Amino acid sequence: MSVPKAELHLHIEGTLEPDLAFALAARNGVELPCADTDALREAYRFQDLQSFLDLYYALMTVLRTERDFEDLADAYLARAAAQGVRHAEIFFDPQAHLARGVGMGTVVEGLWRALGGSEERHGVSTRLIMCFLRDESAESAMATLDAAGPYLDRITGVGLDSAEVGHPPRKFREVYEAAAALGLRRVAHAGEEGPPEYITEALDVLGVERVDHGLRCVEDPALVERLVRERVPLTLCPLSNVRLRTVDTLAGHPLPAMLDAGLMCTVNSDDPAYFGGYAGDNFDAVRGALGLGPERLRELARNSFLASFLDDDEALRAR
Ligand code: HPA
Ligand code: ZN
Repeated sequence: MSVPKAELHLHIEGTLEPDLAFALAARNGVELPCADTDALREAYRFQDLQSFLDLYYALMTVLRTERDFEDLADAYLARAAAQGVRHAEIFFDPQAHLARGVGMGTVVEGLWRALGGSEERHGVSTRLIMCFLRDESAESAMATLDAAGPYLDRITGVGLDSAEVGHPPRKFREVYEAAAALGLRRVAHAGEEGPPEYITEALDVLGVERVDHGLRCVEDPALVERLVRERVPLTLCPLSNVRLRTVDTLAGHPLPAMLDAGLMCTVNSDDPAYFGGYAGDNFDAVRGALGLGPERLRELARNSFLASFLDDDEALRAR
């Protein structure tokens, strides 16, 4: 669906489509664990977040050069634009690349080559959000923030992703304090597989302005009330929830009840190459399976701009 929208929850490494993965593997002499794109698509049957992450980290090893990151981001921006995305706040996972000897400069400069030309080429404005891997140590996160020092003019904020359970937000208190002192905006994944308490911690300990996923807030009525009162945006990803089995079926997704409760929900694609669709596909899916009417879809689109890091003038122009 091509209603103008902002995408606020999108991992750029999760936009690596099988065709591009094989093309980059050939270009860089990297061997992939699957023989061809069909075998790869077969591997996209996930049991949970971890089984997805295992493939996600394995496939991203094809990304080696600035040009690879540029090609990846440019392909995403073209697809997003075709589905009505006018503004994208894009996550990237530097630790997954630094660990393979791919430098911060290669990643950021490569992404920037695509992002820098995006308004002109695709009509999509962009921001970059650097995520810390929560299953790595707090020290590693702090070293990553240090490594980003020379590129901070290109990075709008920090986020927290990867395996959630057992890695509560409080583990990253100091690195979020350091990020705030540098003027970076703050978001974090919380309440995808982890409990509602992680959402509260992300707000109170990390000072996040948005919660990525936040789905499990529905288990705690007092938390829902707080999120409504404080107008905390939630970046939901319905197709991701189905594929990672955080909900049983799309028809059973709590989005309609969340909107009825007054939560500030947005709809996003998370890792579209893996979960079966880009931003517009997620809008189409919730419209079809949940019977959301035009009013609700307009609300979701409006929320996406309100919850973005665009200032008011920029948001008006993007819409
Ligand atoms: N959840 C947590 N970490 C991630 C995801 C996700 O859906 N995608 C990429 N990293
Ligand atoms: Zn995510």
